[in-house]
Amino acid sequence: MAEQFESAFSSFQLGKYKLKNRIVMAPLTRQSAEADGTPTDEMAAYYARRARGGVAMIISEGTYQNDELGCKGYLSQPGCANAKHVAGWRKTVDAVHAQNIPIILQLMHGGRVTDPRCLFEGQQPVSASDSHSPGWVLYTDSDDEKNDRGLSGEWPKVTFPPARAASEDEIERIAEGFAEGAARGIEAGFDGVELHGANGYFYYQFIDTKQNKRTDQYGGSPENNVRAAILACQKVRDAIGPDKIITLRLSQDGVDDFTGAWEGGVDYAKAIGEALRDAPIDALHWSSFDWSDNKDPNSDTPMPQVLKEASGLPMIANGGIAEGEHAEHVVASGAADLCAVGRPLFAHPDWPYIVRAGETYNWTEFDRKYVVKPSYDYACGYPLNLTAPNWDPDFSKRRPK
Ligand SMILES: Cc1cc2nc3c(=O)[nH]c(=O)nc-3n(C[C@H](O)[C@H](O)[C@H](O)COP(=O)(O)O)c2cc1C
Repeated sequence: MAEQFESAFSSFQLGKYKLKNRIVMAPLTRQSAEADGTPTDEMAAYYARRARGGVAMIISEGTYQNDELGCKGYLSQPGCANAKHVAGWRKTVDAVHAQNIPIILQLMHGGRVTDPRCLFEGQQPVSASDSHSPGWVLYTDSDDEKNDRGLSGEWPKVTFPPARAASEDEIERIAEGFAEGAARGIEAGFDGVELHGANGYFYYQFIDTKQNKRTDQYGGSPENNVRAAILACQKVRDAIGPDKIITLRLSQDGVDDFTGAWEGGVDYAKAIGEALRDAPIDALHWSSFDWSDNKDPNSDTPMPQVLKEASGLPMIANGGIAEGEHAEHVVASGAADLCAVGRPLFAHPDWPYIVRAGETYNWTEFDRKYVVKPSYDYACGYPLNLTAPNWDPDFSKRRPK
């Protein structure tokens, strides 16, 4: 069948990089690093396979940049915190570069949703404000999956201890950690960095007014709420120079709030976008489960478009882009410049080639579960230790210092 979806498969200039089409692989955690955070050969193979499948760029899974202040978010998360991690990542980067596409490193800090098993003895997670995540149910799937996993009863609930407000010095230190991690990422060969300001993690906790109750320069207005993220972007830019890609990921949902919406709706988003207008980044990246919604009853403009227009920055839209028509519409309508595709690429590394060729695709319904059916037979079970009951918020039960 003839090639189609001209807009989605046209090239795009992202910073200094020319992307061959508009399809980007979304950051997708696999929890398949070594226990010490070293990226594995399995990860290199996984990313290389997706690079070969036709995407224009890959954004890595969320990676911790150091092991301080609750940065490492979960078990078997990859790090970019030391030379061993750099050497591990280099295998992935080289394997992706062999397919002639760039790969950028997503750096993140867990904040109040850091797995307690990653905290040190006596350590309390930091966040925008003193707050306590309600936790989340890991899976919300059918009994079939429970049977297959040998589980019964309720899905395990993930719980977190109460967090304390980060001091201004700690906010500086965390931003510096991003810059140091970014520099190591460039050493590993990455083409740039994505700062994770979405999905419930540290910078999201500042941008979400339900969580940020600060009254200093880091809270109280949209400009202040996004200041901590901009500080990190600036430090990263200073560390990696003007030629590498920097993106900032934003969202309304969080891992502990799957239906999250920004108080203030699109007006708040516009103010956030305007505050980001001069940020030293190449694009924003909107994370959601439906790229076209905005969760504001008074507007039907897709949220990525609101932010794109307000910031004047290129936009990567994400969420539910599962068919060629969806990607084409995102780009052709001007709602965003690039599409980040997640779950479809779990299920099918060749998704870009398949949709471009107009081939039929054996697709199943999306759900909030973390994968597409058949879900957990891709050799990378997610998440690890699902049944482990030890998400114990007790401070004394943490890693020895
Ligand atoms: C298993 C899984 C792991 C994810 N890991 C990350 C991550 O590390 N960083 C991130 O920003 N988003 C992560 N996400 C969110 C995805 O990037 C994306 O926003 C979400 O899957 C919706 O896009 P999709 O409809 O194309 O899958 C993850 C999603 C899934 C399903």
